[in-house]
Amino acid sequence: MTDWQKQHGDFFTGARVLVTGGAGFIGSHLSEALIRLGASVVVIDDLCGGDRANFDSFASDAGNRFEFVEGSILDQDLLARCTEGCRFVFHQAALGSVPRSVEQPRLFQEVNVTGTLNVLEAARAKGVQRVMFAASSSAYGDSETLPKIEHMPVLPKSPYAANKLAGEHLMRAYAGSYGLDTASLRYFNIFGPRQNANSAYAAVIAAFAKALHDDKQPLIFGDGKQSRDFTYVDNAVHANLLAAKRPDPIGGTVINVACGLRVDVNELAAQMAQIMGKPNLTALHEPERAGDVKHSLADLTVAKNVLGYQPIVDFQAGLRQTVSWYQAVMV
Ligand SMILES: NC(=O)c1ccc[n+]([C@@H]2O[C@H](COP(=O)([O-])OP(=O)(O)OC[C@H]3O[C@@H](n4cnc5c(N)ncnc54)[C@H](O)[C@@H]3O)[C@@H](O)[C@H]2O)c1
Repeated sequence: MTDWQKQHGDFFTGARVLVTGGAGFIGSHLSEALIRLGASVVVIDDLCGGDRANFDSFASDAGNRFEFVEGSILDQDLLARCTEGCRFVFHQAALGSVPRSVEQPRLFQEVNVTGTLNVLEAARAKGVQRVMFAASSSAYGDSETLPKIEHMPVLPKSPYAANKLAGEHLMRAYAGSYGLDTASLRYFNIFGPRQNANSAYAAVIAAFAKALHDDKQPLIFGDGKQSRDFTYVDNAVHANLLAAKRPDPIGGTVINVACGLRVDVNELAAQMAQIMGKPNLTALHEPERAGDVKHSLADLTVAKNVLGYQPIVDFQAGLRQTVSWYQAVMV
């Protein structure tokens, strides 16, 4: 377990912060770290993908430093009330599935783009110091070049990727037009405890954990040679905290957040089957899905130069912790 105090000292003590989507996977880890660091955390989440149970490990210790507001970022008045008095906003709320965005592009546009605009408007009105935005590596699309560097042309392949890019542009525009400081953190395949394994659109590590737990063969879309820069969730939390702490403006800069290591999906399935003691459960293959990209690997130079970021939990350690968590909760 990461010692957040050791990483971030007392910088956040007494600060009021808003975490949108804080009942979700990444948002709840971020909220927990901020609570451990002495901040007062307000979460707004409509629970369409999140779960109150994600607060269990920290809400009771936090007392009145933690407030959960059930509602949508599409509700501008509610968002304005939640943002009141906040120094930082960590904007994590979104609809997150690439294949679902292909099916429901209008809904995704509304939540992921208009919702992001609402978050920025509330932050501007309430004099927030900086907004950290959960951007996505899906912005890079399928270009063959690896590693992905932030200045490369963007090639969104799905409505979700296009939404996330629109969010990045809004972040930069608000820094340019209104002097509201912002940062876009392009997450690369974040995984860890609390990631939803039960949805039809579950992320790959969560889906494999569930399949293996249920004594089923993990299902791979495509030949499994696609690879990802799988990033343990504490690294994403760490990058957000570093971004909030930076003394100089960030001005909407786009910053990769990852581990800087590529693992292919066949290898991932085999490793997870091994860790879970079920090496005979080899993967099944189905046709590739629309919108999925082939390879992904981050260059972390900007993260290092702008944030002083480097990963604090490596892939193997993160995978072990994650598998243990799924084994403990899926009884
Ligand atoms: N997990 C990843 O690998 C990854 C990669 C790149 C970017 N991201 C981004 O990181 C953020 C967090 O992702 P996650 O993996 O924790 O997903 P998640 O689904 O667990 O969390 C998203 C949360 O947003 C909430 N939400 C959705 N619509 C809302 C609305 N209208 N109003 C209020 N709350 C709403 C959901 O209920 C959920 O709790 C998202 O913005 C996602 O696009 C995630």
